[in-house]
Amino acid sequence: MSGGRIPREFIDELLVRVDIVDLIDSHVPLKKTGGNYVARCPFHTEKTPSFSVNRNKQFFHCFGCGASGNAISFLMDFNHLDFVEAVEDLASFAGLDVPRESPTYQVGQNKTDLNSLYLVMERVAAFYVEQLRTSEQGKKAVAYLTKRGITSKVAGDFMLGYAPDEWRGLLGRFKQDLLNDTGMLISKEDGSGYDRFRGRIMFPIRDKRGRIVGFGGRVLDDALPKYLNSPETPLFHKGREVYGLYELLKKNSKPQRILLVEGYMDVIALAQFGVDYAVAALGTATSQVHLDLLFRFSSELVFCFDGDAAGRDAAWRAIAAVFPSLKGGRKIRIMLLPKNHDPDSLVREEGLDKFTERVGMAQALSDYFFEHFSQDLKLSEMEGRSKLRDEAETYLKQLPIGAFREMMFEKLASLAKQHILDNETILAYKKQEKKHRQKTGRPSLPSFVVALLLQNPRLIEIVEQKEIDWDQLAFEGVEKFKNILQMIADKKPANYGMLIESYRGHADEALVKKLASLDLLIPNDGIEAEFCDALDGLLRQARSAGLEKLLIKEKTRGLEMHEKEMLRKMLTNK
Ligand code: UTP
Ligand code: MN
Repeated sequence: MSGGRIPREFIDELLVRVDIVDLIDSHVPLKKTGGNYVARCPFHTEKTPSFSVNRNKQFFHCFGCGASGNAISFLMDFNHLDFVEAVEDLASFAGLDVPRESPTYQVGQNKTDLNSLYLVMERVAAFYVEQLRTSEQGKKAVAYLTKRGITSKVAGDFMLGYAPDEWRGLLGRFKQDLLNDTGMLISKEDGSGYDRFRGRIMFPIRDKRGRIVGFGGRVLDDALPKYLNSPETPLFHKGREVYGLYELLKKNSKPQRILLVEGYMDVIALAQFGVDYAVAALGTATSQVHLDLLFRFSSELVFCFDGDAAGRDAAWRAIAAVFPSLKGGRKIRIMLLPKNHDPDSLVREEGLDKFTERVGMAQALSDYFFEHFSQDLKLSEMEGRSKLRDEAETYLKQLPIGAFREMMFEKLASLAKQHILDNETILAYKKQEKKHRQKTGRPSLPSFVVALLLQNPRLIEIVEQKEIDWDQLAFEGVEKFKNILQMIADKKPANYGMLIESYRGHADEALVKKLASLDLLIPNDGIEAEFCDALDGLLRQARSAGLEKLLIKEKTRGLEMHEKEMLRKMLTNK
């Protein structure tokens, strides 16, 4: 946004002026009970209200999911805004203008300009819809969409339209300077201009708040270029927007995962078939800004690529680009499509269930990463192993410090040191690792997680929220791990001192004391984040180990009924 910083005093004033009860009530109707106002929580699904707003404290809190904060936090969470956007919205709720410190140029001026640009885009989109639905020319476009199997319902959801095949389709109807500033015209040297989009199916690109910032337009035949997109404008920055995000969030503001595909038509076909969690990067490489945006709404992204060589290359470029922003708690998986398919054609051919199953089987980024490097190398030879080490390390060094980085380095070490040949070498390697850990005092991932938990029993809440299915997990010591967690969950001790009392004379007393005494070197304000990262890492590892165990058993000895059911569940990730 434009201008300088928002003055602190203004934010304070805003929070004094606005009553959080009124603000929230205008988004989520509240009921008064005693001194509080309550509702069913907008941040998680629940049957009975545990979301409460307190007028005296000017604070909301959900006893179910733990969401809490003031009026600004509410707008940030509820409308997926960043801080500045939330302050701006809150100011307009209070009828105030946001002042800026040392503005670099006239903020007020600029702001009205943007508003009129948004407005003209909205009107242009409505014009295109009308052209599609009612004009003579539009019939061709409707016929094309019908041929592609697009229903009128989904065309409406995505506000599809048609740009008439005319040089002055927009020009006669809207102000030239507004059309110019929104990139809807191509201007000539003499100051005149003509419509950029002519004779094309129009796909409005909306930002996450639903404002139209640009368009994509597709020809109705094999003419080139197949797609035209809006140029960069004050409203539209390709590197910052993804197609379909607004439509996705309208259906589900906290999707379990987001599928990142390549094309407009992919997003639309998937939505039509019930895969309503797909978005597309707009013909550009996925940027870190894209990822930061998407990870605000979901903790898991699935990148979808063609299965051919070009697709694998694209997948690799995407991974390399996003590497520096990867951390624990941010899951990325890679899904490669069968030959000669894009998501559009695949979901039409196979249907929702089969497609969902494929999404569930997408490969973890960590696996894809090492597979990419190991592919052409002979890991049985020393040259191959050291090459792997050198090349992979350059990438791994870019990862932010944390459990995910740790895990990737461990995996690299194991691949580079010892190309696993048979069970005996695996065992030998594990012993060696253990020795190394003992020498350096570094705990294994499961021990690290338990130790953190023992030292900070309140973290059990995080574990409980995950609703872990223990039967799916496999790692050394899983039973002991489970027992300790159970104890903490049962006792809910306020501190470690209270917990250890429960272990007096218990078989695990020594183990618990040992883990609790580990010095984990984590600053106080980083404990929760580190714990989440480590737990996620452990679950991920343990789940794929569990899956592998099942798959091997399926091949060798066959599965019992309940194991088959579990395998199915794990593959579809339900
Ligand atoms: P595709 O050619 O895979 O598009 O390009 P698609 O969505 O599957 O289109 P259909 O099925 O042929 O209708 C993927 C994306 O690359 C961008 C668009 O964003 C497109 O959706 N692209 C492609 C362009 O920007 N310009 C082009 O000329 C082609
Ligand atoms: Mn396609």
